[in-house]
Amino acid sequence: MDYRTLGKDLKVSAVGMGCMGLSRSYGERPDRKYSVDLIAQAVDMGYTFFDTAPLYGTEDAPHDNEELLGEALKPYRDKIVLATKCGVEFDWSDPSTNKRVLTDAHPDVIKKSLEDSLKRLQTDHIDLYYLHRVDPKVPIEEVATTMKELYQEGKILHWGLSAVDEATIRKAHAVFPLTAIENRYSMMYRSTEDLFPTLEELNIGLVAYSPLANGLLTNAYTKADLKKFARGDDNRSVMPQFTEEGMDKNKDLLALIQKIAEEKQATPGQISLAWMIDKKPWIVPIPGSKKASRLKENLGARDVELSQDEVKAIDDALDHMEMSDVFGGAPVNK
Ligand SMILES: NC(=O)c1ccc[n+]([C@@H]2O[C@H](COP(=O)([O-])OP(=O)(O)OC[C@H]3O[C@@H](n4cnc5c(N)ncnc54)[C@H](OP(=O)(O)O)[C@@H]3O)[C@@H](O)[C@H]2O)c1
Repeated sequence: MDYRTLGKDLKVSAVGMGCMGLSRSYGERPDRKYSVDLIAQAVDMGYTFFDTAPLYGTEDAPHDNEELLGEALKPYRDKIVLATKCGVEFDWSDPSTNKRVLTDAHPDVIKKSLEDSLKRLQTDHIDLYYLHRVDPKVPIEEVATTMKELYQEGKILHWGLSAVDEATIRKAHAVFPLTAIENRYSMMYRSTEDLFPTLEELNIGLVAYSPLANGLLTNAYTKADLKKFARGDDNRSVMPQFTEEGMDKNKDLLALIQKIAEEKQATPGQISLAWMIDKKPWIVPIPGSKKASRLKENLGARDVELSQDEVKAIDDALDHMEMSDVFGGAPVNK
């Protein structure tokens, strides 16, 4: 199960590469040469789907991630699917580690943002262009109309929405069909499943972000790691699943995943991803890692087979399992 199709015809590797962590949120940013080489290795491994955004950077290098992908993916541009986003900026005046984002989805702002992304990504089109967060000041129908214009100009080939609810999906899709939505989805964050009937009905793919619950579901972390996250630029320092109390609450969850991993001769991270890959043919997780060995491990999730009965048994267990809260992302306009 190497590839899958989002919407009508966007073919992507069954596991995509989320690239945010190479530029922000998880502590130290690797140097450019290292990251360019890592992305080249990811292409060699078989990743064909890369996720970025103008938002993925720090105050000193606000668009670092798009610039990185522009450089790293240039030699492979025709072989890969590039997804980026628009419509939010960090409020750099916010002193919190988990900084607030401010939305602006006015047509001129989206159009300018796209032109800037095209330059940074060194390309003349974006394969999948998302609105990163809904802007309460701009009706979603107006955003859909803007996206339709950009599609007609050949600058974007598909569009999507991120962090959205059913009503917004329906209104947007009625104006200009969506190919995918990108929402948080993992064993620790299953409310996204409420959208499944709508996505199935409208033939819209789900690109699952933070599919490893920011790494926790790999069972690779212990309480001893928590102090490593205590840097001002590491969002794990403010994530409820990465606290001593959270880790205690997640013991049964991690034990379940570990047990299944041993049965399937896979790793816990692979089970966490296979659980969603094998649940629906239109779900594509986009885990992120700064390490080649982990990128390989994560891509290997597409080879782990869980039957529908096995997926259901996991769901049933999750329904009744104690677990901590999970990180909910940057506050929007608050
Ligand atoms: N649309 C949105 O609003 C939105 C929001 C958040 C994220 N995203 C996208 O989704 C992508 C993934 O989300 P995410 O980075 O938040 O969460 P994630 O993929 O669930 O977790 C990433 C974390 O897990 C660790 N990790 C990954 N694979 C591992 C493995 N096999 N073993 C042990 N640890 C592993 C990584 O550490 P190492 O780097 O040290 O391996 C990193 O700290 C992002 O890169 C971004 O493209 C989108």
